[in-house]
Amino acid sequence: MDRLFVTGGARLAGSVRISGAKNSALKLMAASLLAPGRSMLRNVPRIQDCFTMGEVLEHLGAGVSWEDGGVAVDATHLSSVEAPYELVRRMRASIAVLGPLLARTGEARVAMPGGDNIGSRPIDLHLDGLRRMGARIDAEHGFLVATAEGLTAAPITLDYPSVGATENLMMAAVTAEGVSVIDNAAREPEIADLAAFLAAMGAGIHGAGSATIEIEGVGTLEPAEHTVICDRIEAGTWAAAAVATRGDLVLDGARPDHLELFLEKLGEGGAEIRRTDDGLRVRQPERAGAADFVTLPYPGIATDFQPILLAMLSTANGTSIATENVFEGRFTYVDELRRMGADIRTEGHHAVIRGVERLSAAPVRAMDIRAGAAMAIAALTADGVTEIADIEHVDRGYEDFEAKLTGLGAEVRRDPELVHLP
Ligand code: UD1
Repeated sequence: MDRLFVTGGARLAGSVRISGAKNSALKLMAASLLAPGRSMLRNVPRIQDCFTMGEVLEHLGAGVSWEDGGVAVDATHLSSVEAPYELVRRMRASIAVLGPLLARTGEARVAMPGGDNIGSRPIDLHLDGLRRMGARIDAEHGFLVATAEGLTAAPITLDYPSVGATENLMMAAVTAEGVSVIDNAAREPEIADLAAFLAAMGAGIHGAGSATIEIEGVGTLEPAEHTVICDRIEAGTWAAAAVATRGDLVLDGARPDHLELFLEKLGEGGAEIRRTDDGLRVRQPERAGAADFVTLPYPGIATDFQPILLAMLSTANGTSIATENVFEGRFTYVDELRRMGADIRTEGHHAVIRGVERLSAAPVRAMDIRAGAAMAIAALTADGVTEIADIEHVDRGYEDFEAKLTGLGAEVRRDPELVHLP
C-alpha cells in the first residue's frame, strides 16, 4: 500500500538512462533453464517482476545471483518442475517457464496465471502449440500439468501473434526433434532478443522478428552470456512525460528503431525528436496537439503505451481518438484520470479524449504497471499534489522510477520510503 506524492507543474529536463527490457529479461531468465550450467544475463532491470522470476527459478532448484551488471542463473540441477500459485499469482509471465521446463525435463506443473487486471488473458495458443509438439496438458487443482516424452518439431500457425505463446513455443522447440516452423509469430523486439540468447546457447533458430520463425532442434544447449535489449516501453514512457510536461529529455540507450510509429505520433503532436549517439532526445516546445492512435501487435503501437498516451493526450490541444485492439478491458483505469479532471469518454474499445488545459490533483490509484506510470504523467501536469496509491505496481516494471523522476526535476515523495529492493 505504498503511495507516491507527485507535485504537478515541473517541466522535465535532463537525461535519463533507459533500463533493460522487463519483457525480454523475464523470458531470458526462464530460457536459462534450458541449459545445465551457469548463464549470465546483463542489463536485467532490478524490478519486482524480475525478482519474482528469480524466485520462480529458485523454487525450481536453480541458483540465482544478482551481481553487479547482471543476474547469473545456474540451472545445473533442477529439483522441482512446479511454479507455485503464490508466485504465478504475483506475475503471470511466470507461465514462460512452461516451455523450457517441458523441453528440459519432460514435465511441468504451472499454476494457472492471474496477473494484471487488464481483461481476459487466455493461454490457449501456448497450450495448443505445445500439444502439437507432443505434450499432454491437463488442468488439475488449479495447475496446468504438462508432460512429454521428448517433444517433436511441428508446424504451428498461431491464430493471433501472441508474444507469450511465440516465446513459449520457441523455447520448447529448441531441443525438439526436427524443424519447427511458427507462422504468424509475434514480431516484437523482445522475440528477436530471446532468439539471440537461444542462438548463443547453441539453438538453430532463424527468422525471429519476422512472422515466420524456423527452429531446428538440437540435442543439448550450453549456458551463455547475453545483454538484454533496452526497454522500449520505459523509453516511450519518458518520451511521453517529456511531451506532457513540455520538457526536454535525452533518453540514453533508447532504440528509436523500436519506437517508430510511437515517435511518429509524438511528432504529430509537435514534439521535436532527434537521434543522439546513444539514444534520442524529445523536446516539446509548446502545448502538444491531439493525435489519434490504435494499438496493434508490433510494429504497431504497443498496447502498453495506451494508458501512457491517454494521460499525455488528456492535456493536449484538441480531441484525440484511441482504439485498443490488443487487450479488452484495458480502459478500467480511465476513471482515475477522470478523477483528475480528464475529459475521456470510452465506448467498447474506443476512447475519445478531449484535451483540457490542466488536470487537477486528486487521490488516485495505480491499477497496473502502465496505468500507474500514466497516473504519474497525469500528476506532473496537474495543479497541486497528486497522491497515487498502490505505487508498488509501478515497481514491478520500472527501475528506480522515483529517483529518475527526481533526477529530471520532478518533486516526488514516497510513503513509506523505498528501502527494501535487493
Ligand atoms: C506481453 C507483454 C505485455 C504486452 C503484451 C502485448 C510480457 C511479460 N508481457 O504479454 O506487457 O502488453 O505482450 O504486447 O511480455 N491471447 C490469446 N490466447 C493466448 C495468448 C494470448 O487469446 O494463448 C490474447 C490475449 O488475451 C491478448 C492478446 O492475445 O488479448 C495479446 O496477448 P499476448 O501477445 O500473448 O501478450 P502477453 O505475452 O500476455
